[in-house]
Amino acid sequence: MDSSTFRGILFLISILFLHPITSLNYPQQIIDELYPELDSDGGESESPNPNPLAPALFVIGDSSVDCGTNNFLGTFARADRLPYGRDFDTHRPTGRFCNGRIPVDYLALHLGLPFVPSYLGETGSVEDMVRGVNYASAGAGIIFSSGSELGQHISLTQQIQQVMDTSQQFILSMGEDAAYDLISNSIFYISIGSNDYIHYYLRNVSSVQSLYLPWNFNRFLAQTMKQEIKNLYNTNVRNVVVMGLAPIGCAPYYLWLYQSNNGECIKNINDMILEFNFAMRFIVEELNHELPEANVIFCDAFEGSMDIIKNHDRYGFSVTTDACCGFGRYKGWIMCISPDMACSNASSHIWWDQFHPTDTVNEILADNVWSGVHTSMCYPSNLWDLLAKKARR
Ligand SMILES: *[C@@H]1O[C@H](CO)[C@@H](O)[C@H](O)[C@H]1NC(C)=O
Ligand SMILES: *[C@@H]1O[C@H](CO)[C@@H](O)[C@H](O)[C@H]1NC(C)=O
Repeated sequence: MDSSTFRGILFLISILFLHPITSLNYPQQIIDELYPELDSDGGESESPNPNPLAPALFVIGDSSVDCGTNNFLGTFARADRLPYGRDFDTHRPTGRFCNGRIPVDYLALHLGLPFVPSYLGETGSVEDMVRGVNYASAGAGIIFSSGSELGQHISLTQQIQQVMDTSQQFILSMGEDAAYDLISNSIFYISIGSNDYIHYYLRNVSSVQSLYLPWNFNRFLAQTMKQEIKNLYNTNVRNVVVMGLAPIGCAPYYLWLYQSNNGECIKNINDMILEFNFAMRFIVEELNHELPEANVIFCDAFEGSMDIIKNHDRYGFSVTTDACCGFGRYKGWIMCISPDMACSNASSHIWWDQFHPTDTVNEILADNVWSGVHTSMCYPSNLWDLLAKKARR
């Protein structure tokens, strides 16, 4: 650890001490406040459609899609205080690592579904889960121990175990046929893998860099994902969106850490991410051949994000390198922990904090997953085409 990192951590500890993390004592009450739309039919323009395009949306992943799981865990990776959530529908922190909505919020709206609640934040009753569940946990990686230095998280394997538990509950309460219909017609969205680089490979945990060349590490991750998706298939999951990894070599944290001169992205990191996405796209093709009833699509968040960075003017972003919220060069040195560290207009920024994009970027990426609104980034088709193909059968 170099001395600047050490000073950063001291600063962080002092700020955490001044703003102690308040624990959530009554999860259901908080969820009710955050998701009033789940209970009321209020006349809001974005209230759920009575005829959604899929029965439910299930979410597996890391902080890119966590919507509150980590609020219930002992970890530094929590987004339960302002300025997180300040531009969300409720203008309050929810656990989303964003100023506003995350991609699965936008996808839920496209599907005509309510925002998907966090698995740990609900009562566990079947009624609460039939429109979808979000299992994602910040800090989680494809490898079990990725991110463990941050504290607790729910790993990929554990999240898939929770999917199986949910499926069993559906079978018990509605019978096998109805449970099969629900699971096999729902959309499963998987967004995970960045932490295997951020908190594992790039930190050389367990000398991993001496044991694995990047290409072998990437293949190992992609093969692990393949097995996990097969496990989901055995639980009757059929429609899967695999989100590729974003260009984390352009994230403010790495611009700061590698002392980027003019905000150029860190090429070594992005090259690894490109290779992983390439391997994962290939695995998705294999899965579609090997699993007769599977509809798996791979959406390349790297492609979509680079399109945004290159054409930032067209998208209305004036700041492409600096985070909206953080401290130090590129706002990448110290994580976002208090409202006065944040810029006033997040919509003009690509990056919200050290690692996560703003609500505006999440909307663009979700619209691309849905129907390639801005640029086509999903293979072999986008989500809308997948649903249309299913409907024709
Ligand atoms: C990774 O860690 C091992 C053991 O500490 C060390 O021998 C190796 O040089 C490191 N690799 C890199 C690329 O830093
Ligand atoms: C915030 O930035 C966006 C995009 O640059 C711009 O369209 C919008 O008008 C700005 N809002 C305010 C309040 O300045």
